[in-house]
Amino acid sequence: MNALVLGIESSCDETAAAILRLTRDSGEPDRIELLSSVIAGQELLHAAYGGVVPEIAARAHAEMLNPVISEALAAADVEFSALDAIAATAGPGLIGGVIAGLMTAKGLAFALGKPLIAVNHLEGHALSPLLAGECAFPFLLLLVSGGHCQLLVVEGLGSYRRLGATIDDSAGEAFDKTAKLLGLGFPGGPAIEALAREGNPRAYAFPRPFPDRAALDFSFSGLKTAVRRAVEAGGALSAIAKSDIAASFQAAIADILGMRSREAMARIGPEWPEGSRRFVVAGGVAANQALRTRLATEAAAQGFSLHVPPLQFCTDNAAMIALAGAMRFLSGSTDGLDATARPRWPLDAEAAKRAPMHVPGRKGAKA
Ligand code: KG4
Ligand code: ZN
Repeated sequence: MNALVLGIESSCDETAAAILRLTRDSGEPDRIELLSSVIAGQELLHAAYGGVVPEIAARAHAEMLNPVISEALAAADVEFSALDAIAATAGPGLIGGVIAGLMTAKGLAFALGKPLIAVNHLEGHALSPLLAGECAFPFLLLLVSGGHCQLLVVEGLGSYRRLGATIDDSAGEAFDKTAKLLGLGFPGGPAIEALAREGNPRAYAFPRPFPDRAALDFSFSGLKTAVRRAVEAGGALSAIAKSDIAASFQAAIADILGMRSREAMARIGPEWPEGSRRFVVAGGVAANQALRTRLATEAAAQGFSLHVPPLQFCTDNAAMIALAGAMRFLSGSTDGLDATARPRWPLDAEAAKRAPMHVPGRKGAKA
């Protein structure tokens, strides 16, 4: 059996569409053919504000969805009528953008008489290593992007165990906010990484805060405050001081993520047979070379193989949404046209109930 699926992504600042065919024959691994993947980024629209502005993002998605979908179909040489299902991100994310994408998908599903699949964006990320073809279930996933920071055990479709998540900012936000403090552009990650190459990672003793929980949670707000103090204490910062702050900040992030990942591998390793202990790092922050080097060391020490999928599958894209949609479709799980857009949607609902990362009424964690 096989499924030809259109995937739509619009939860943050990328408008994306992809066409993917998933073929499943009994006894054989699934075959994934990505026929097209189109991404229209919005970085220029948000650059002046130093971060993503939700209202601007939603409007841009509404404008870009139709042309992006048309381009994806044309690039794949596929007609609407050939599709088996329409999949779209239904959350979590910036709600205006999610609604724009999900409503487009509902309109198409209704008009074409095809099933709709309301995809959890985080499930898309969790399955994204499969797009690179070098990974199989189960695996440990560190998802570090502008919107997310969490450690998950991915056992299979719909089977996720959250080991930890951020209680405040994501790792990408920490990079972006530090870049803003240092007067660098948006997104901040690449700018910090470039500046850090010229700096001394031991010049500033920034904190490595760990929330006091048995869970492998993260917190970056204390680090952000420490960086702000260092910037403010320095008056007009010299170029050397700026690169020292960037290098020391990056070292702190690599340490925090490295230590947490080590602990996660130490806990999970004994559950999995030797030779099939896989550790995947995905999300925009996975582009960071200092972080990769650190995680490679930790993985090797714990007997895990490290997988960093190509960046086009790590950062937000619709190929991962089409894949999640196709896997759900083949397992018989589709959604009605009353599917709702959700600003929050944890992958591991039980863990979210047991230890919520959000307190209503407060500006909570993004992940
Ligand atoms: O996955 P992504 O493209 O979008 C979200 O889903 O959020 O991640 C974007 C984030 C931004 O915060 C950006 O600063 C960060 O990834 N990033 C980096 C690097 N490249 C992008 N952070 C550190 N080092 C990098 N080289
Ligand atoms: Zn994402």
